[in-house]
Amino acid sequence: MLKIFSNSTKRESTPCYAAPKGDWLLGHFTTYAQNPLHFLSRCAQEYGDIVPLRFLSESVLFLNHPECIEEAFSRQNRTFMRKGKIFQSSVKSLLGNGLFLSEGKFYQQQRTFAQPAFHKQAIAAYGRVMIDETNAVINTWQNGQVRDVYQDYITITRSIIAQTMFGVSLESEFVEAFTEALDATMNHFKILNEELIVMPDWLPTPSNLRYRKIMQRVDKCIYDLLQQYQNSEQSQGNFLDMFLQARTEGHSVTIQQLRDEIINIFLAGHETTAIALTWISSLLSQHPDVEAKLFEEVQTVLQGRIPTVSDLAQLSYTEAVVLETLRIYPPVWIMVRTALEDTEILGHPVPKGMDVIACQWTAHRNPRFFPKPDIFNPERWMDGLAKQLPIGAYFPFSLGGRVCLGKAFGMMELVLVLATIVQKFQLKLIPDHSVEPFLSLTLRPKYGMKMMLSHR
Ligand code: HEM
Repeated sequence: MLKIFSNSTKRESTPCYAAPKGDWLLGHFTTYAQNPLHFLSRCAQEYGDIVPLRFLSESVLFLNHPECIEEAFSRQNRTFMRKGKIFQSSVKSLLGNGLFLSEGKFYQQQRTFAQPAFHKQAIAAYGRVMIDETNAVINTWQNGQVRDVYQDYITITRSIIAQTMFGVSLESEFVEAFTEALDATMNHFKILNEELIVMPDWLPTPSNLRYRKIMQRVDKCIYDLLQQYQNSEQSQGNFLDMFLQARTEGHSVTIQQLRDEIINIFLAGHETTAIALTWISSLLSQHPDVEAKLFEEVQTVLQGRIPTVSDLAQLSYTEAVVLETLRIYPPVWIMVRTALEDTEILGHPVPKGMDVIACQWTAHRNPRFFPKPDIFNPERWMDGLAKQLPIGAYFPFSLGGRVCLGKAFGMMELVLVLATIVQKFQLKLIPDHSVEPFLSLTLRPKYGMKMMLSHR
């Protein structure tokens, strides 16, 4: 698949990679924007491991070989620490300088402050909350009811993150303001990604003014939450406490930074898991044999009682269902990084400022590593595949120095929530429901997921 041509005008060691033909002015932009997944899949299948693309005047490298992905995101992760320009301009107003976007020493310090909230022991203590919050929602479900389970999963994962990371239950004002801000941000990202229209934030356009108002509402809710929390004076050892403690110890942690960290962890910690649960339910409904096997494992291991963290090791098929869903529908489908200095990736020069792309959607469909990649087959994970794969072949949680901070938390949550639901309900997609991803910062289900609930 690797296509290397010699080029007499360059150093012999500089390989030149083939790319699809682009428009002289717009480059590959129009074809990409029409259908990003289709375009990137075609590039991966027909042009191979590194595909040089151009979006207007911006040159971008699409990395599609595990070695190249590992090189940029792991081995050279300091050079490629900055998230791409589209990410920066679409989510900066919402996420500020929190963990998701920050860089350099400031970032390293934030990650160090946050880390203890994600240690194995800390996470194990969250198991009970995960199950209780799931039960709080599914105990309202009724036999024969049709529900948009995506909305229910958002409610579950949102409550879990608020309880475990900030020790609070969410006020409806916060939920409303945040949902509005997030939807606006997702649409903004989608427009930037597909139209490359960069309207400066400071312009008083109607949409910028509307967005500013939404953001002010979100900020007020977060500052209220913070005030309440600081007044309560109870340290619970959660994520928020880690930053408050650092502040007490004299580290410079401003109120603005606390605001940014709260919104970052809130967004990163619930949107992705809710999406994953939705795609799991959809795939299970379309594969009754897998669903039956999953139910059998849950029954055998749990014998009707609620799951606990110590059951996780035995719920191996449940975990395989989760891994296979994250392969087919990765909640984060694309990652972009900007080179902070001149460098090269496996011989291909990457000048300072150039963006590189890795796409989970295409990488996870590489038949070299996943035979019959379009088939939903959890069995493929049962013999230790996760440990055998090159690290750049499967990366739903990213890889390298900026790997998802909530990877272990998220995996545990998905397995526990799934086992709790499967034990009590069977979910079937309603016949006319259109199952389609909405490509934004994440891979949301475009029309939610309307499913019929049957009590076991
Ligand atoms: C299925 C669940 C999840 C998936 C698929 C997922 C995926 C990812 C990915 C791909 C990234 C890197 C994005 C990029 O660099 O552009 C990321 C970053 C991050 N995730 Fe997750 N995530 C999940 C759950 C969680 C949870 C539950 C939390 C917190 C409780 C969390 C917290 C974070 C944070 C803080 C970052 C930024 C890390 C950094 O830059 O150092 N994630 N996640």
